[in-house]
Amino acid sequence: MEVVILPGSRQIGRMAADAVEALVRRKPDAVLGLATGSSPLPIYDELALRHEDRGLDFGRAHGFALDEYVGLPAGHPQSYREVIRKEFTDRVNIAPENVHSPDGTAADLPAACQYYEDAIKERGGIDLQILGVGTDGHIGFNEPGSSFASRTRIKTLIEQTRRDNARFFSSLADVPHHVITQGLGTIMDARHVVLVATGAQKAQAVRDFVEGPVAAICAASILQFHPHATILLDEAAASSLRLADYYRHAYDNKPDWQGL
Ligand code: F6R
Repeated sequence: MEVVILPGSRQIGRMAADAVEALVRRKPDAVLGLATGSSPLPIYDELALRHEDRGLDFGRAHGFALDEYVGLPAGHPQSYREVIRKEFTDRVNIAPENVHSPDGTAADLPAACQYYEDAIKERGGIDLQILGVGTDGHIGFNEPGSSFASRTRIKTLIEQTRRDNARFFSSLADVPHHVITQGLGTIMDARHVVLVATGAQKAQAVRDFVEGPVAAICAASILQFHPHATILLDEAAASSLRLADYYRHAYDNKPDWQGL
């Protein structure tokens, strides 16, 4: 796990975009795993800018959303399919048919979950998975207690997550209770994961998953086992880390050839 502490979300967006750009230039048909929420927005802004300014080409790339609410009608502005379309894929030249998300409206939800797992596999797996982290340590919507072996499935949101996400809806009552999320096993299969966290409200979750024990009570802690996990933090999100100075020192002295 590599922890990089940066001054703010702008720099985080640029560094994560560097990783995506390097991947897409090396492998034009790369498969990107796309998170929603506030954390990845600076990454999508930066990628849209690079597409506009330098012609960064997503013409052969694929995108797979990390999760989706269950029961929001197609086209609902807070469905993650819509959010990803609006915040990222409509702003670059990724083909709409190459953007995939779990079907939270399916009559047979377990079948929709399996279909999604199969679709990821058929594309050769996810090359780079963008992640945020919840205040309770969730990644995707793998709430505390999620199995480390889990695949795409239905989960029930914890009240804290519904409250955290109520800012995107008219009221707490409108936030769905159920979601489809890539499982922790699915996320661990991604070849590179880039997790971004900003703000003091994430400091405890960051400390728990980076430096705490690997335990299902903090789902993101499984990333300690990932062979290529990059954690991009601002100062506030990093403020409870015991080894913050070491992470800074390691990054400042990192050999150029290592890349991200
Ligand atoms: C979003 C997702 C969630 C969020 C997390 C943090 O697709 O899967 O895990 O990344 O809830 O949300 P923000 O970034 O809004 O604080």
